Amino acid sequence: MEIADVRGDLSQVLFTPDEITGRLRELAGDVDRDYAGKDLVIVGVLNGAVMTVADLARDLKTHCEMHWMAISSYGDGVTSSGVLRILKDLTVDIEGRDVLVVEDIIDTGLTLSYLVQNLRGRQPASLEVLTAFRKPAAAKCDVDVKYVGFDIPNDFVVGYGLDYAGKYRNLNGLGVLDPAVYGG
Ligand code: IMP
Repeated sequence: MEIADVRGDLSQVLFTPDEITGRLRELAGDVDRDYAGKDLVIVGVLNGAVMTVADLARDLKTHCEMHWMAISSYGDGVTSSGVLRILKDLTVDIEGRDVLVVEDIIDTGLTLSYLVQNLRGRQPASLEVLTAFRKPAAAKCDVDVKYVGFDIPNDFVVGYGLDYAGKYRNLNGLGVLDPAVYGG
């Protein structure tokens, strides 16, 4: 889906598809450099990180496995519920492996800190985080993030895997959802 198809629902366009994939290509270069000769396991966080993992992985020159976890955080609303649980766990053992968690967005950081703590308990050789987007002004906890695509303002955004009530995930760019759409 193109930005033009939902332009009326967005108060602002933040990034075009080319800007996002261009930045991910740069990050893939960083990951290639850092993981040369390592046993890279990408853990994508469903559902939002599907686009980021797909684009990043295809730009990598390093072999990697791709696995998925799902964590509940948001319901259909635009604010975090604060209640986290694993809805889908990994189907592989990550002990002794080099794990790169790939997120769509870091908002409060609560989901990520829960996930990182959980995965560290499984004793990977290393554990790092890559996110396509991050909202520094929304941070409620300190999580180490090695690779960041873009820092963005503290607005509710949609597109490139990010949804509102299940919609807009297939939008190829990123935009700020007009508050009128969710009655904000
Ligand atoms: P956190 O735990 O507050 O960092 O939230 C992380 C999760 O909330 C992300 O993986 C997204 O699924 C969702 N989320 C946070 N901000 C947004 C947004 O602006 N648009 C859509 N989803 C968001």
